[in-house]
Amino acid sequence: MDESHTIWIEKYRPQKLADIVGQDEIVERLSSYVRSGNLPHLLFTGSAGVGKTTAAVTLAREFFRDSWQMNFRELNASDERGIDVVRNQIKQFARTTPLGDATFKILFLDEADALTTDAQAALRRTMESYAQTCRFILSCNYSSKIIDPIQSRCAIYRFKPLSPAAIREEIRRIAHRESLNIRPDAMEAIVYIAQGDMRKAINALQGAAIISRDIDATMVYAIT
Ligand SMILES: Nc1ncnc2c1ncn2[C@@H]1O[C@H](COP(=O)(O)OP(=O)(O)OP(=O)(O)O)[C@@H](O)[C@H]1O
Ligand SMILES: [Mg+2]
Repeated sequence: MDESHTIWIEKYRPQKLADIVGQDEIVERLSSYVRSGNLPHLLFTGSAGVGKTTAAVTLAREFFRDSWQMNFRELNASDERGIDVVRNQIKQFARTTPLGDATFKILFLDEADALTTDAQAALRRTMESYAQTCRFILSCNYSSKIIDPIQSRCAIYRFKPLSPAAIREEIRRIAHRESLNIRPDAMEAIVYIAQGDMRKAINALQGAAIISRDIDATMVYAIT
């Protein structure tokens, strides 16, 4: 792919749990699942751009290693094709045997709070029926929109908005890799714009970098 068309939030998406910044407690607990070789159903909740999807994918990679793509599936609950399609895909994936030496698969259901109460009730039954062969990771912005019976079947992880220190750390890392100079006022502008959302921070950096490799605050504000 032409380098100038690469989206940095994808280019720099952490590939390992340890590369996720600012969510140390969560990363530590997820790593302990990898070490133990077992996993409960999980519910990831928190605002946008704080690492929920990244955590689910990196967890699956480290859990299954070479067979992660065969044993991990990501579905979006707000898929425009409708909940029936999603429901069928969930069942289809959950009931088939895990591959390689995996004892179960992982199904990652993004935007689970988009499911209606009825759909969640059906999901709850699916989670129970196929718990032997499939673990679910649900992701949502608001855990209050997930019905209690599902919440009680999951270990719940509340992702916090990222601290200014965590945002600075990641922005510094990317700036270094892209050979950018970030003036202190530009860094503060990025932190201010991001409001704890790393996706916003990285997009602000990429936007400013189009203007110049020597970035000051006016360039950051120019594109947001
Ligand atoms: N904690 C983090 N450490 C490093 N990079 C992060 C972190 N959180 C987010 N990012 C960056 O932001 C991008 C988006 O993150 P991710 O998709 O994990 O967000 P999310 O929490 O799932 O958000 P949404 O609620 O919008 O789905 C990632 O590709 C990554 O580049
Ligand atoms: Mg996500």
